[in-house]
Amino acid sequence: MKFTFTTAALVVLASTASFTAAISNGQANVKSSLDIPGPMIDDYPTSYRTGAGLTADKLGFVRCKSTSFVGFRLFDRFGLKDFSSRYKNESAWGDATTWDEAARRSEVRVDDIAVPGCIAQQQTSSANASAENGHVAWVARVGDGNVTVEEYNFAKANRYNKRTVPTETFKYIHIIV
Ligand SMILES: *[C@@H]1O[C@H](CO)[C@@H](O)[C@H](O)[C@H]1NC(C)=O
Ligand SMILES: *[C@@H]1O[C@H](CO)[C@@H](O)[C@H](O)[C@H]1NC(C)=O
Ligand SMILES: *[C@@H]1O[C@H](CO)[C@@H](O)[C@H](O)[C@H]1NC(C)=O
Repeated sequence: MKFTFTTAALVVLASTASFTAAISNGQANVKSSLDIPGPMIDDYPTSYRTGAGLTADKLGFVRCKSTSFVGFRLFDRFGLKDFSSRYKNESAWGDATTWDEAARRSEVRVDDIAVPGCIAQQQTSSANASAENGHVAWVARVGDGNVTVEEYNFAKANRYNKRTVPTETFKYIHIIV
């Protein structure tokens, strides 16, 4: 699925509900050509994975955490250049647990509707429900009552994972789609 962006108009080459959403959100800094949600592969940069510790990636998220992976995908798949832990002047994009609140304050839509390329969010990290930093993931596929996500730091600490779970597992944050 591709679309082309020009400063004058978005030319939709293959229309889907996702692209309609992208246009209505008015994002001006998306790639000229993209493939959403794109391949399900661990394309998180090697440089981020090397010596992963409590150091921030270039967006301001701790490397190899769920937030860093989703931030990377927003940049890599949509070309969203200004996403960061301070996106739209919010400080609360840091830990995943507050992404839904940061989104609502920033007038980014949060709902129960999964679409490929949106962000899945939950208050706990699931694998360890007592962990309090929450969890976010990239929505790769939407099925009938289920959603397939790609993520970091879920099944194994600081590592890539993908899973298919019931749609109601998450809330969905629609930064671009
Ligand atoms: C973001 O915060 C800075 C510093 O407080 C302020 O100068 C700027 O106008 C704010 N931007 C927006 C979009 O609110
Ligand atoms: C779950 O998370 C809590 C809080 O971070 C931590 O103390 C605990 O050791 C974790 N448990 C497992 C099994 O990872
Ligand atoms: C997810 O839904 C699709 C139908 O859209 C179905 O084919 C698939 O088996 C479901 N996967 C799981 C794990 O439930």
